[in-house]
Amino acid sequence: MSPILSEKDKQVRLSYLEEHGLSADRLPRHIALIMDGNGRWAQRQGLPRIEGHRRGVQAVRDTIEESIRLGIEQITLYCLSSENWKRPQPELDFLMHLLEQYMIEQRQLIMDQEIKVQVIGKRQGITGQALKEMDRTVEMSKENTKLTLCLAINYGSRAEIVDAVKSIAASYKNGNISLDQIDENLLADRLYTAKMPDPDLLIRTAGEMRVSNYLLWQISYSEFWVTEACWPEFNKELYHQAIDEYAQRHRRFGGLDQRDG
Ligand code: IPE
Ligand code: IPE
Ligand code: MG
Repeated sequence: MSPILSEKDKQVRLSYLEEHGLSADRLPRHIALIMDGNGRWAQRQGLPRIEGHRRGVQAVRDTIEESIRLGIEQITLYCLSSENWKRPQPELDFLMHLLEQYMIEQRQLIMDQEIKVQVIGKRQGITGQALKEMDRTVEMSKENTKLTLCLAINYGSRAEIVDAVKSIAASYKNGNISLDQIDENLLADRLYTAKMPDPDLLIRTAGEMRVSNYLLWQISYSEFWVTEACWPEFNKELYHQAIDEYAQRHRRFGGLDQRDG
C-alpha cells in the first residue's frame, strides 16, 4: 500500500526530493537494511559492544524519519538473525531489553508518525516481556498507512522457506491444493513476508559483502548497496547516496531495457 498523503504533504515531499536531487519516479518502494557493525563501532570508540546497539537505535529512528520524508512505502530492518543466538548471553539479554524498551518508548512516536509495524521471524527465544510489548505495538499500529516498518527479529530466511514448504505440504495433504497450484506466487504467499512487495534496494552497513540469511527469496532482483560506515554512523547523507545510486541502476529482471540500445 502506497503512503496515503494529503495534497499538502505531497507537495512538501516533492520539494524535499527536488531539493536533494532525488527523482520521485525512481525511488525504491521497499528498502531492506542489514544494520551491521554496531559492535565494531563501539569497540573503535573504546566502548562495550552493547553501546553500539544502543547507538544503533538512534540510527533506526533517523532512518525511519527520513523514509517518511522521502515517501518510501516500506523498510525492513534486520534486527536479530536466527544465527545471532550464538552470541554471548549478556549481549543477547541486552538486545532483548533494547527490543522491549524500543517497543515501549517509541510507541507514541510510531502512532504520531502513522507507522504500521510488522514483525517477521520466529517468536521462540524472544522474552515474554519483549513479545508482549511487540504485539501491543503491532496491534495498535495496524491501521497506519504512512510507512510500513517491518522488523526482522529472530529471522532466518532458510527457516522461513522451510516453514513455507511445510505449510504448502500440509495444504496438499489436506486436499486444499493440488500439485499444479504450487507455484512461485503460492510459495511467496506462505512466506512471513506474504503480501509485502519485494525489496527494490538492499542496504548493508559495515562493508560486508554477504546476505547473512536475509530475505533470500525476496531479494532475487534487489539492487545491493554496501557502505563501509557502521550502523551507528548511518545517516541521511548515506541514505540519500544509496537511493541516488539505486535510481541510476539499470534493472533488467533478466531482459533488456531501453538503455541497452
Ligand atoms: C549488528 O551489529 C547488530 C546485530 C547483529 C544484532 P553487530 O553486533 O553484528 O556488529 P559487528 O558486526 O559485530 O561489528
Ligand atoms: C546480520 O549481521 C544480522 C543482523 C544485522 C541482525 P551479522 O553480524 O549477524 O552477520 P554475519 O555474522 O557477519 O554474517
Ligand atoms: Mg555483524
